[in-house]
Formats: sequence, C-alpha cells, structure tokens
Amino acid sequence: MRSLLSLATALGGALTIRAPQNVTDTPSKSTLLPDSLYVDNAPNYLRPYVIRQYATAQATILRGEVFRFYITGPSSGNAFTLVVVNAPQNAVLNVLPHIHERHFECFYNYKGRFQLWAQGRDNITQETRVLTQGDFGAVVRNSTHTFQMMDPDSQMGGAIVPGGFEETFFAIGHNASFGTHTPYNPAFSNTTYDLTFSNGTMANEAPFDVYNQPRFQPRRDAINGTAPANRTWHTGPNSPAPFGIPYFIANGFGPKYLNNETGYQIIQPVVTLNQSGDLNFTSSTITISATPQNATVAHWLIQETVAIQVLEGHLWVHIAGFDAALLTCGDVALIPGGVGFRYWTDTYFTKFFSLNQGGNGVDTQLIRRGAEYHAVVFPDEFS
Ligand SMILES: *[C@@H]1O[C@H](CO)[C@@H](O)[C@H](O)[C@H]1NC(C)=O
Ligand SMILES: *[C@@H]1O[C@H](CO)[C@@H](O)[C@H](O)[C@H]1NC(C)=O
Ligand SMILES: *[C@@H]1O[C@H](CO)[C@@H](O)[C@H](O)[C@H]1NC(C)=O
Ligand SMILES: *[C@@H]1O[C@H](CO)[C@@H](O)[C@H](O)[C@H]1NC(C)=O
Ligand SMILES: *[C@@H]1O[C@H](CO)[C@@H](O)[C@H](O)[C@H]1NC(C)=O
Ligand SMILES: *[C@@H]1O[C@H](CO)[C@@H](O)[C@H](O)[C@H]1NC(C)=O
Ligand SMILES: *[C@@H]1O[C@H](CO)[C@@H](O)[C@H](O)[C@H]1NC(C)=O
Ligand SMILES: *[C@@H]1O[C@H](CO)[C@@H](O)[C@H](O)[C@H]1NC(C)=O
Ligand SMILES: *[C@@H]1O[C@H](CO)[C@@H](O)[C@H](O)[C@H]1NC(C)=O
Ligand SMILES: *[C@@H]1O[C@H](CO)[C@@H](O)[C@H](O)[C@H]1NC(C)=O
Ligand SMILES: *[C@@H]1O[C@H](CO)[C@@H](O)[C@H](O)[C@H]1NC(C)=O
Ligand SMILES: *[C@@H]1O[C@H](CO)[C@@H](O)[C@H](O)[C@H]1NC(C)=O
Repeated sequence: MRSLLSLATALGGALTIRAPQNVTDTPSKSTLLPDSLYVDNAPNYLRPYVIRQYATAQATILRGEVFRFYITGPSSGNAFTLVVVNAPQNAVLNVLPHIHERHFECFYNYKGRFQLWAQGRDNITQETRVLTQGDFGAVVRNSTHTFQMMDPDSQMGGAIVPGGFEETFFAIGHNASFGTHTPYNPAFSNTTYDLTFSNGTMANEAPFDVYNQPRFQPRRDAINGTAPANRTWHTGPNSPAPFGIPYFIANGFGPKYLNNETGYQIIQPVVTLNQSGDLNFTSSTITISATPQNATVAHWLIQETVAIQVLEGHLWVHIAGFDAALLTCGDVALIPGGVGFRYWTDTYFTKFFSLNQGGNGVDTQLIRRGAEYHAVVFPDEFS
C-alpha cells in the first residue's frame, strides 16, 4: 500500500503549481488509488479522501445529538477520530460525567454555545467554561468531564486520539438517516433528554473506555463563561497546559506563530507534543492568506496521517494525482502518510484545522520555520 501511494506521490510531486491554480495538467493517478477522492462515509481503510460537512459520515443519534464521524480509526490508520456533533439547546447535561482512561478528547466550538466541565486527576479543581465559536477545550486522559449544548444552532467536536472511539457511539446510539442531510432532526428541538438514559447505557460503555463518575457534581456558578471566577477566559492569554492537565483556549487568545514562506500562515497550536505525550499528535488552527503571484505553493510529503478541516473561507487541496479538491466550511481531507499534497486558498482569508499524527506535521513544520507572532490577522503587505 505504502509503495503504491509513494508512486502517486512521485507523480503529484512532479507538478509545480502556482496560484490561482490550473490543474488540468494533473498526471493520471495510479490506478491503484481510488477513482474518486469523494466519499459519503469515512472509508474502512487508510486512503486519501475528502468528505463534505453533513455527509452521512456514519451519522449516529444519541440523546438527540447527531454525531458525524468524518474520520474514524480505520480511515486514519488508527491515528484519530474526528467527530462533529450537532444538537439543539438542552436544559440539562447532554451526558453524565465520565472519564476516558485511554483517549484524549478535543472539544472545539464550531458555532453556537456549549458548556464544558473538566476536572483533572487531582479530583479537586473542577473547571468549567462556556465555549463560543472558535474556543477549544482539551480533555486529557483521566479527566472527569461532561458538556451541555446551550444554543439551538450549536456545533461542537474535534479529534479523539487514538482513533477508534466511534465504536462507542455505534454500540449505544442508532444510525441516523436524513434525506436532506439536515444537521439534526428538528423533532429533537425543545426536548430535554433524560440523563437516566445516559446513566443506564454508561455501564455498557466501560469496554469502550467510558467510565461513569456519578459522584461528580457539575458546578453551576460560572460567571462570564468561567468558574472558578479568577480564570482568564476571553480576557487575556491562554496557553496549553503541561502534560496531564485539562485546559481551555479561547478563540484568538492562545499562542500564535507566523510563517511567511508562501504568503502568510498564522499557526495557533491547541495541542503540541507537550500535551499529547505518548499519544504523539499535534493540532492547530492555521489562518492562510492568498498566495502572492511570485510564491510557489508548497509541496508536502509527511510520513504520518494528516487531516485538514476548513473552518472559514475555502481551501484547495491537491492530493497525489487527484484533481484539486475545493474544501469549504466543515469539509475534511484525510491524507495518509507518504502521500504528497499541496494546499492553498484563492480567497483572501481562510482558516482550517490541522490535525497531525506524530511530531512532524504541517503545523509543527510551519512553526519551526516561522516566528512567534502577536495577532490573529496577517500583516497588511506581503513580505
Ligand atoms: C488551464 O490550462 C488549459 C491548458 O493550458 C487552458 O486551456 C485553460 O484555459 C486553463 N484554465 C484556466 C482556468 O486558466
Ligand atoms: C449502523 O451503521 C454502522 C456503521 O456505519 C453499521 O456498522 C451498522 O451495521 C449500522 N446498523 C444498522 C442497524 O443499520
Ligand atoms: C489513566 O488512569 C489509568 C487508571 O488509573 C492508568 O492506568 C493510566 O495510566 C492513566 N493514564 C494517564 C495518561 O495518566
Ligand atoms: C478520583 O475520583 C475517582 C472517582 O470519582 C477515583 O476513581 C480516583 O481514584 C480518584 N483519584 C484520585 C487521585 O483521588
Ligand atoms: C416547547 O416546549 C414547551 C413546554 O413543553 C411548550 O410549551 C412549547 O410550545 C414548545 N415549543 C415548541 C416550539 O415546540
Ligand atoms: C446514576 O447511577 C448512579 C448509580 O450507579 C446513581 O447514584 C446516580 O444517582 C444516577 N444518576 C442519575 C442522574 O440517574
Ligand atoms: C464579568 O464581566 C463584567 C464585564 O466585563 C465585569 O464587569 C465583571 O466584573 C465580571 N465578573 C466577574 C465575576 O469576573
Ligand atoms: C485563582 O484562585 C485560586 C484560589 O485562590 C488560586 O489558587 C489560583 O492561583 C488563582 N488562579 C489564577 C489564574 O489567578
Ligand atoms: C514544550 O515544553 C518545553 C518546556 O516547557 C518548552 O521549552 C517547549 O517550547 C514546549 N514545546 C512546545 C511545542 O510548546
Ligand atoms: C513578491 O511580491 C511582493 C509583492 O506582492 C513583494 O513585496 C516581494 O518582495 C516579492 N518577493 C520576492 C521574493 O520576489
Ligand atoms: C512521535 O512520532 C515521531 C515521528 O513523527 C517519532 O519520531 C517519535 O519517536 C514519536 N514520539 C513518541 C513519544 O512516540
Ligand atoms: C519571514 O520569516 C522568517 C522566519 O520567521 C524571518 O526570519 C524573516 O525575516 C521573514 N521575512 C520577512 C520579509 O518578513
């Protein structure tokens, strides 16, 4: 498999693409790669693919929430799962407090509002934050956590590492089938889901690394989106915590780096190797400018799984010998290790998630060749 993909890489690597892109000279791809990049469900083996936001994505309903699995254990070579949840406002917790011993769970707010609770291994310091668009919460292993959807048009989700955690949902939820691919069934609106159900199923989830924590009482004293009250939340800088401690980063308040190699890219890491440790993954948002006419779009060849999910604007992703794919908001591209790719935008401002297995991913390399930066927007002239 690897060597066939490398062949495709070599073909893709022969191209020199400039922006705006004309990909009609793309060489024919290896016949052993799939005919089409586009899938409606994450594939059951490691291969390049693109999946649209609100595709079927093995959609699973649990407590009125719809979980879509854009990346699964099998589709990523077990690197990670990428799950996105759409759900209405809920008057109570969406799930009872629980722990994962083996899975690091990232919570990102795509839109709307949700509240997240997390308590680290010390069992003492219970943190909660109300997350609005672009906010991030890291539930590291062995943190007791729970969440509640707060707005009618809320979308949350993120990576769960390592891959395979979707099996939990397949075991206890039921398959969703929406002819219109609506984010969630409107019949779920205005429904309060009874936690007794969650309590009842959780005992069955222990084999899937879900451990009920019935003694955890979620604090309800958040003011200005945070409790304890003295935490910095949308009022100043946040940074990823040392290994083993849950943490939260408000949108735009985390560390930032600027890379100027092909236009501008602002990298805002949410998980570095310091936080992922032996799970060995990194994740950042990357804000990218258009490519100046005198720059050449970079060719990437990474030996481990890479994923991209567009958050704002749109991104062209050219993988191996496939035609370049245009990804818009919420769309995902999965690139196996050893497969060459390029990405660029022909809009003026695009933001995407970069999710990387191992310590040499897109975000890590861009940071290494960039410099610390102070803003969420790039400079007003190309360098
Ligand atoms: C792309 O290149 C082909 C072949 O050179 C040319 O016919 C076509 O007009 C180009 N398309 C664009 C959008 O530039
Ligand atoms: C539900 O979907 C999962 C994953 O796509 C599949 O394995 C399972 O067979 C489906 N179950 C039913 C009842 O359709
Ligand atoms: C999580 O807790 C389990 C059970 O105590 C332990 O075996 C495991 O090492 C812990 N994981 C981490 C990353 O601390
Ligand atoms: C934290 O509480 C859980 C039960 O909620 C218990 O299993 C665990 O041992 C406790 N950890 C510590 C460090 O006290
Ligand atoms: C929502 O639920 C309340 C209480 O059951 C009910 O009075 C109201 O009509 C419902 N609203 C909608 C839009 O269904
Ligand atoms: C969940 O079950 C535990 C016992 O396993 C019980 O103590 C707790 O009250 C239950 N919680 C809810 C919300 O039903
Ligand atoms: C909440 O925010 C308001 C407005 O910024 C501020 O005046 C108030 O002191 C904050 N309250 C707390 C408890 O931080
Ligand atoms: C918040 O208050 C607690 C208790 O007084 C203290 O231990 C902690 O350092 C404070 N945190 C910040 C960020 O000021
Ligand atoms: C990891 O932590 C070390 C020690 O605090 C620090 O020097 C290094 O910059 C951190 N690495 C990243 C990628 O944040
Ligand atoms: C690329 O073009 C920009 C203007 O768009 C200019 O400022 C810059 O010096 C050029 N860089 C190189 C390497 O030619
Ligand atoms: C993480 O992955 C890199 C390859 O990207 C490897 O060199 C390194 O040893 C791995 N680290 C751990 C802690 O597994
Ligand atoms: C581009 O970025 C590099 C690395 O941060 C920096 O050394 C260099 O000065 C930057 N170039 C310009 C023209 O800003």
